[in-house]
Amino acid sequence: MIHLSGKTALVTGSTRGIGKATALRLAEAGATVIITGRNEDRAREVAKDIKTRTGSDTFAVELDLGSRESIETAMERISEAVGGVDILVNNAGANRDALFLRMKYEDWEEIIRVNLTGTFLVTQLALKGMLRKKWGRIINVSSVVAFIGNVGQANYSTAKAGLVGFTKTLAKELATRNITVNAVAPGFIETDMTENLPEEIKAGFLSQIPMNRFGKPEDVANVVLFLASDLSEYITGEVIHVNGGLF
Ligand SMILES: NC(=O)c1ccc[n+]([C@@H]2O[C@H](COP(=O)([O-])OP(=O)(O)OC[C@H]3O[C@@H](n4cnc5c(N)ncnc54)[C@H](OP(=O)(O)O)[C@@H]3O)[C@@H](O)[C@H]2O)c1
Repeated sequence: MIHLSGKTALVTGSTRGIGKATALRLAEAGATVIITGRNEDRAREVAKDIKTRTGSDTFAVELDLGSRESIETAMERISEAVGGVDILVNNAGANRDALFLRMKYEDWEEIIRVNLTGTFLVTQLALKGMLRKKWGRIINVSSVVAFIGNVGQANYSTAKAGLVGFTKTLAKELATRNITVNAVAPGFIETDMTENLPEEIKAGFLSQIPMNRFGKPEDVANVVLFLASDLSEYITGEVIHVNGGLF
C-alpha cells in the first residue's frame, strides 16, 4: 500500500485523460492534489469530483503551459494556497501534427513551448518547495514517439525526446537533494488525444502492440504513483515505458 498523506502533488493537465487518472491515484493514496488546465471552471469540477471520491484535499488552478505569465501566476497561487509542491507530474502536453515538409513554424514553436519550455518553467518554480523540504519527486510524461519517431510528429517527438534529456540531467543535479526525477513514456493510450485519429492509423498502431490492446490512462497513472512514492526512492534518471510491448 502506498501512503502519500502529508504530500502535495501538482499534476499539470489533470482535467482529462492520463493527468486526471494520475491525480485520482495520488489522491486515493492520500496526497493533496492540485488540478490544473487552461480553464479554471473545468479544473474546479474535476477537483471537486476527486475530493468527493477520495476524501483528499484538492485545489484547482488555471495553468496554461504555453504562457509564462500564466505559469508564474499559477505557481504563485499554489505557493500561497498549499505552501509548495512535493510531487510534480509534468503531464500536460499537446500535439499539432503535420508532415515535416509542410510543418508551419508556428506549429513547431507552439509545441516546443508548451511541452518543453512550459515544463522547464513549472519545474524551476516547483523545485523551491522541494529543496526547502529536502524531499521531492518529479515525473515527466514523455512518449514512445521520442524513441521510435512518428510520421507527422517532428515537433511533438522532438519535445518529448527533449524531456528525456531534461529528466536525466535534473536527476544528476538533484540526486544529493533527495529529489528523484524520472519519466514515463506512454505508448498508445485511449484519451481525447488519440480518440480522433483515423481508424486505419489506430489499426496500424494496434497491429504493432504485442498485448493487442491500447493502454488505459490508469496504466500510466499506476506507474506515476509508484514513482511518486518511497517504493521508488533509489530510482532516478529512469524512463519507464508503458506501451504493452510496442517498444
Ligand atoms: N494519449 C496517448 O496515447 C499519449 C501517448 C504518449 C504520451 N502522451 C502524453 O501524455 C500526456 C497526457 O496526454 P493525454 O492523452 O491524457 O491528453 P489529453 O486527454 O488530450 O489531455 C491533455 C491534458 O493537458 C491539458 N492541456 C492541454 N494543453 C495544455 C496547455 N497548453 N497548457 C496546460 N494544459 C494543457 C488539458 O487540459 P485543458 O484542455 O483543460 O487545458 C488536459 O487536461 C501528454 O503529455 C501527452 O503528450 C499521451
